[in-house]
Amino acid sequence: MSRMTVNERPVEFDLDPRMPLLYALREAMNLTGTKACGGGGAECSGACMVLVDGVALRSCAITLAEAEGRIITTIEGLSRDRSHPVQQAMVAQGAIQCGYCTPGIVIAAAALLQRNPAPSRDEIDAAIPNICRCGVYPRLVKAVAQAGRVAQRQERVSAAPAPGISAEDAAKAVPALRVLQVE
Ligand code: FES
Repeated sequence: MSRMTVNERPVEFDLDPRMPLLYALREAMNLTGTKACGGGGAECSGACMVLVDGVALRSCAITLAEAEGRIITTIEGLSRDRSHPVQQAMVAQGAIQCGYCTPGIVIAAAALLQRNPAPSRDEIDAAIPNICRCGVYPRLVKAVAQAGRVAQRQERVSAAPAPGISAEDAAKAVPALRVLQVE
């Protein structure tokens, strides 16, 4: 039995303790926001990143035994309503294309801003090793910097509608959707 806290809930996994945390989160808890890239090890894209005691780590590279007693936060637990500054800034900057890499990047950026709310370009590059096949890197750097300013209350942004919002209300909340609707 492996015990840990996942998204503020105490959890016991009756699974092989050698199992990667990634699979326990996705298959046993249905927390599918954490993505599997199939790379593993040095080839891992970082799409599987979760916070482990506040540090962004690749969940494919951590076993349940290694996660014992830790506090795990997945993308689902980062904010319940997409209101985290990184989530809002990613949408505001258009730093998402297919979105597959996005949860891992949001997790890595959230961890960075927690310890350094005003990172330099070099610090962002170093802290976000994630691979994005769509190539949104320039917008991603802008989004992380903006999220830092939002977190410090130097700037406001409200770009991502809350989950479960109706299409009409989403169009009111997100100008890009309104433009698409008019056209
Ligand atoms: Fe598609 Fe990054 S947005 S892989």
